Amino acid sequence: MTEYQYTVTAPGRVNLLGEHVDYCNGPVLPAAIDRAVSLRFAPREDERVLISALDLHESVCFSLRELEAKIDIHRQPLPGWAAYPAGVAHVLQHHNLPLRGMNAEFTSDIPIGAGLSSSAAVEVAFAVAWDTLSPWSLDRMTLARYCQEAENRYVGVNCGLMDQFASANGVADHALYFQIHKLHWEPIPMPPDIAIIIADSRMPHSLQTSEYNERRAATEEALHIFQTVMPAVSALVDVSPADFEAHKHLLPAKIAQRAQHVVYECDRVNQAVQALRAGDVAAFGKLMIATHASLRDLYEVSVPEIDFLVDTAISLPGCYGARITGGGFGGCTVNLVAAEQAETFAKELKRRYDQHTPYETEVYVSRASQGAHLLA
Ligand code: GLA
Repeated sequence: MTEYQYTVTAPGRVNLLGEHVDYCNGPVLPAAIDRAVSLRFAPREDERVLISALDLHESVCFSLRELEAKIDIHRQPLPGWAAYPAGVAHVLQHHNLPLRGMNAEFTSDIPIGAGLSSSAAVEVAFAVAWDTLSPWSLDRMTLARYCQEAENRYVGVNCGLMDQFASANGVADHALYFQIHKLHWEPIPMPPDIAIIIADSRMPHSLQTSEYNERRAATEEALHIFQTVMPAVSALVDVSPADFEAHKHLLPAKIAQRAQHVVYECDRVNQAVQALRAGDVAAFGKLMIATHASLRDLYEVSVPEIDFLVDTAISLPGCYGARITGGGFGGCTVNLVAAEQAETFAKELKRRYDQHTPYETEVYVSRASQGAHLLA
């Protein structure tokens, strides 16, 4: 039996507002959730990393000296899930942070591929583990950025910073208002009488599908065109709705559609933060509904099953707002519901979805939770 000295827990996240804007430096409003990766670990004296993925009944052993080749100690390709810890190790070493070998095992109750950042949570858990075993120490923003780098350069998904940021920095009962262009964030209290309800369509999605990277490329194309008339603009977040309306005729139709989503979504996040601060949940909910329409019609990252979940949710008593959350193409919806109606809402949403589709949804009341931390 391996003895594990430490346990770290790293949560998934739900995004309340600010979808598909993080890679345009736009503001986001996620919250860490009460579903997490739990990683037990202990240092080793050699340069090997032995990891058991308990939920998959698989394990892998790789060397910290062979990360570039993405192979295990038997020179076999790393299994897909091992790219996350190996990628984190690779990036940390690339930044001249020496690492120790470790024995580790982990389990997770974040559904995989459901838009709740199960992979970011694995990355953050391992980054915290290496931080714990090392003489160096990273602030949480740098740690999140290195995890994002692992996903971009090692796993090959061109994601933004939101997921790793939220897993690393979550605050219990607060949403996280993260202004990415300033790398500045603050926790905003969630109203106590409101429940965050997550509904899983149980339709698997994969960020690695070309669609995600394709959307990102479209926003970059839009940026380049805006820069021809607005040279000071360094990211789409700098383009206001008025600028967009003035120059949108320069963009090809599809690109204009994608950029319109980003520009107006950035604006919605700032409005939503004001609404939350003022305790105006009704206004917040309306912005969520507008975001969903934009993701469905302009950004085209929703699917009919998810639209059904959203349309049903907003027809039910107590629901302020509902929308798809995360990268899209399946996955989960997030719903803001009056706490006293939460249970009835969850039951009824499940009943209608299960009747309407071949999938069986899981609907649960979630809670904004603390970010990654070591357990005593
Ligand atoms: C995924 C990515 C994030 C973000 C969202 C969409 O979760 O990992 O960086 O782009 O999609 O908002």
